[in-house]
Amino acid sequence: MESKLENNKVTMENTIKDYIQTNKNRFLDELFELLRISSVSADPNYKNEVFKTAELVKEKLIAAGADNVKICPTAGFPIVYGEKIIDAKLPTVLVYGHYDVQPADPIELWHSNPFEPIIKDEKIYARGACDDKGQMYMHVKAFEIMMQTNSLPCNIKFMIEGEEEIGSENLAVFVKQNKKKLAADIILISDTGIVANDTPSITVGLRGLSYIEVEVAGPNRDLHSGLYGGAVANPINILCEMIAKLKDEKNHITIPGFYDDVEILSEEERSEMAKVPFSLDEYKQALDLSEVHGEDGYSTNERNSIRPTLDINGIWGGYTGEGAKTVIPAKAYAKISMRLVPYQKSENITKLFKNYFESIAPLSVKVKVTLHHGGEPIVTPSNSFGYKAASKAMETTFGKKPIPVRSGGSIPIVAMFKSELGLDSVLMGFGLDSDAIHSPNEHFGLFNYFKGIETIPYFFKYYAESFAGK
Ligand code: BES
Ligand code: MN
Ligand code: MN
Repeated sequence: MESKLENNKVTMENTIKDYIQTNKNRFLDELFELLRISSVSADPNYKNEVFKTAELVKEKLIAAGADNVKICPTAGFPIVYGEKIIDAKLPTVLVYGHYDVQPADPIELWHSNPFEPIIKDEKIYARGACDDKGQMYMHVKAFEIMMQTNSLPCNIKFMIEGEEEIGSENLAVFVKQNKKKLAADIILISDTGIVANDTPSITVGLRGLSYIEVEVAGPNRDLHSGLYGGAVANPINILCEMIAKLKDEKNHITIPGFYDDVEILSEEERSEMAKVPFSLDEYKQALDLSEVHGEDGYSTNERNSIRPTLDINGIWGGYTGEGAKTVIPAKAYAKISMRLVPYQKSENITKLFKNYFESIAPLSVKVKVTLHHGGEPIVTPSNSFGYKAASKAMETTFGKKPIPVRSGGSIPIVAMFKSELGLDSVLMGFGLDSDAIHSPNEHFGLFNYFKGIETIPYFFKYYAESFAGK
């Protein structure tokens, strides 16, 4: 019995590795086809490309062997759905991913065309290479392998959306309206990362988000800064003063009530976190920084995962063209994001921000605060069947047990999956923080792409086995 199991293990390993080896170039060519379409969801100029990408994802799912593949229209960009139901008695894994990407700007900082993928130094360079086309496509190819080698051990459903980078609002509607169609036992997502290629990890926490835009209005027109300067409020000056008031000298956020619901981690949890391999020197070096910056009393890894933030993402107004123009602008603007942690609530934080921001505005200006999008933070279990299956799968292919880590990023739909579908998500991503997602020269390691494809079938195997043993 023992030896037979061993044999099976060797067979599965060989089967997967051989399949990947034989189809390596095609797996890359197909991903490149996806990467060539500029599916930027935020920019209306790319609308057709986003729709075209959905079509291509549909084709790829069909080619890989999925049934009932459909492009589900929404009020925005469509959701691509597909499934393979082999036996209603077996568990069902719902795979989620996104085919939309961030804008490529600033385009002049790319070393190659963001929508003409190239391989350099063993990495695929393109917008979306890691976030999330590359990682989403690992699932399509892992599914192909399981189909072609007759080894899909449970049911699978795919739900690939086109609006993740703009807040997934229409997906939220779709989820609420299609609870039956989406019935599953677990959600599997590769849209996060690992600590390092020799330090596998599984993400067990994501931050929430409140994204806000503010407008500060002064005089009813741009004014000559000599004739009026010193006598009327300059909206840019005022906006800067107001922003400066949002944090104190210890980098604590000053909005009253902001920290009221923040989860306090135990010393034990914090010391577990501190064990995750991390070099502050390398971190600083990689970003060309002589010093890091953040909330007093917390380490870098705590600041970017278990603590909430407030950041200005953009600020504009007045004259920014060539040369100098002496002007007091009529208006100034900023985009502000707050990353949230359990148990903060996006709607509540947005309200607290609005109240406070309005309260600190001097009478010399008028302030408008509008919400862009929000999302709730989530912590996913690290003792579930799903987590354990992912852990065993990664241990099998990396030769090392992955560590659970909380990430600072956000995937707002994950909290919704829990609240609306009652389903936990397993965040088994394969990216690296250094992959430059959302930045110029985004890339995804060939190692990571193929390691993902190799690991996913083991997740299905171990997950199905844990159910069988129930
Ligand atoms: N895949 C990222 C989120 C991510 C990346 C989480 C790496 C953990 C590790 C996702 O596509 C993303 O960029 N999300 C946005 C939120 C969205 C509402 C715009 C984010 O985190 O800014
Ligand atoms: Mn993503
Ligand atoms: Mn993203």
